Parts: sequence; structure tokens; C-alpha cells
Amino acid sequence: MAGAARDWPRVIGHRGAAQAAPENTLAGFRKAAALGVGWVEFDVRLSRDGQAIVLHDDTLERTTTGRGEAAALDFAELRRLDAGAWFGPAFRGERVPGLEETIALLAELGLGAVIELKPAPGAEAATGGRVAALVAERWPDVLPAPLLSSFKPAALAAARSAAPAIERALLVETVPPSWRAQVEALGCAGLHAEQRQLEHDTVAALTAAGLAVFAYTVNQPERARTLWSWGVAAVFSDCPDRLAAGLGAHPI
Ligand code: G3P
Ligand code: MG
Repeated sequence: MAGAARDWPRVIGHRGAAQAAPENTLAGFRKAAALGVGWVEFDVRLSRDGQAIVLHDDTLERTTTGRGEAAALDFAELRRLDAGAWFGPAFRGERVPGLEETIALLAELGLGAVIELKPAPGAEAATGGRVAALVAERWPDVLPAPLLSSFKPAALAAARSAAPAIERALLVETVPPSWRAQVEALGCAGLHAEQRQLEHDTVAALTAAGLAVFAYTVNQPERARTLWSWGVAAVFSDCPDRLAAGLGAHPI
């Protein structure tokens, strides 16, 4: 549990910069970089043919022109969908990104990343293993080391087996009483929690155990300041530029 020792960013663009551009798209990552963000978070799952894609929901309706389960389509079929039009006409033509092209763009933009393993039900181990192996193979030396996170312990366990050197964080809504046993069992460097569920003493206990605590999703500067003052290392935000105003001289 050495996560607290790293120099983490204070603000991480959530799903790119989700208020300013369609979430989990290349346009969103470009927007985050243009807003001055140093790190982004995005969600990765597998297509039917086992390709790693960047998409939040199990189903396609909310953020693409497709229908049904994402895991029911091959990569080539997913690539034909529009993943930007729902957000606004300026983003028409955005595609569901593949993980490889996303990593290449992050290198071009100089963006670090929290890569959330977001498996479809039943695909926890396959997703964790495949994504971790790909990240280990493709992650460029020019970027800060990435962080893998997940709500699914089985995905983190598979990621650990496939690429033990990549740091991991356990994602939770509410910090469970068993947090210490869980992060130790999975060899996690951090714990990421829903920000409204966090209390000062909980953050203190987690950081005292050497964990890097991140909070999602924080869009109010005042709340971010409170969380940082408690020892939260980083907040995920849909509007990272708004939070940057509260950072003074600290870069995001
Ligand atoms: O990784 C933090 C946050 O993204 C977790 O929740 O649903 O936005 O993926 P969600
Ligand atoms: Mg996420």
C-alpha cells in the first residue's frame, strides 16, 4: 500500500472532461488537455471479440447510436456507431475509441490516466487480464505510470496476475468496514470512493494505512477544497477547469 508516496495530480478529468465534450471519446481527451488537465479517467470494457474499448455503460443507448449490450457486438460493429452526436452536433462522427488508439492519443497530449476496468457482468477476469496486459505492453515511457481501478475485485485480481507492476485502486461507493482486508488481498495502492460518502476520519484512517484516496465525482470547488484538506489526494471532475481555480499555484 505505497500509493500515498506517489506524486498524484490534484484533479483528474472524469471520463475526459464530461461537461465539455462527450464522455470517453478522443474529442473528450483532447478537450481535457485543452482545459489544462494533466490526467484523465476513462472506462474500459471488452467487445464480443475481446477488443478493449472505452465506454461507460453496459448498454449502448445513452452515449451512442447503437442499441443493446456493448458486449454483444464485435469491435468492427461498435466502430460504426456515433459516440458524439448525443452530446451535440459539433461532436458528430466521434467513435467508440479502442484502448490502443486512446493510449497513443494520451502520449501525444501528455495525459496521465486512471483506467477504470468496467467489465460487463461475467467478464470481470477477462477484462482485467486483457486490459492490464495491453496497458503493460503499450503504455509509453513518456507518461506517468497509469493506475488501474475497478469496483470489481475479480477484475483487479486478474489485472494483478497479468501485469503486477501496474498500480491498482479499489473503487467503492461507501468505504466498507472490510476495506483494509480488501485492499491488502488485491495489493491495491489506493481506494477511490464516492465523494458524498467520505468523512474526515475515514480519509484519515485510509491515508494512515498508506493508501492514496481519490474521490468521485467532484464538480464544486468548495467541496474539492474540503476533501483535499482532509487528505484526499485527487478528485475526479466533469469540469476540471472549474476546480483548478481553487488550486492557486498548484498545477492540475
Ligand atoms: O473512477 C471514478 C468513477 O468514474 C467511478 O464511477 O460510474 O463514473 O465510472 P463511474
Ligand atoms: Mg469511471
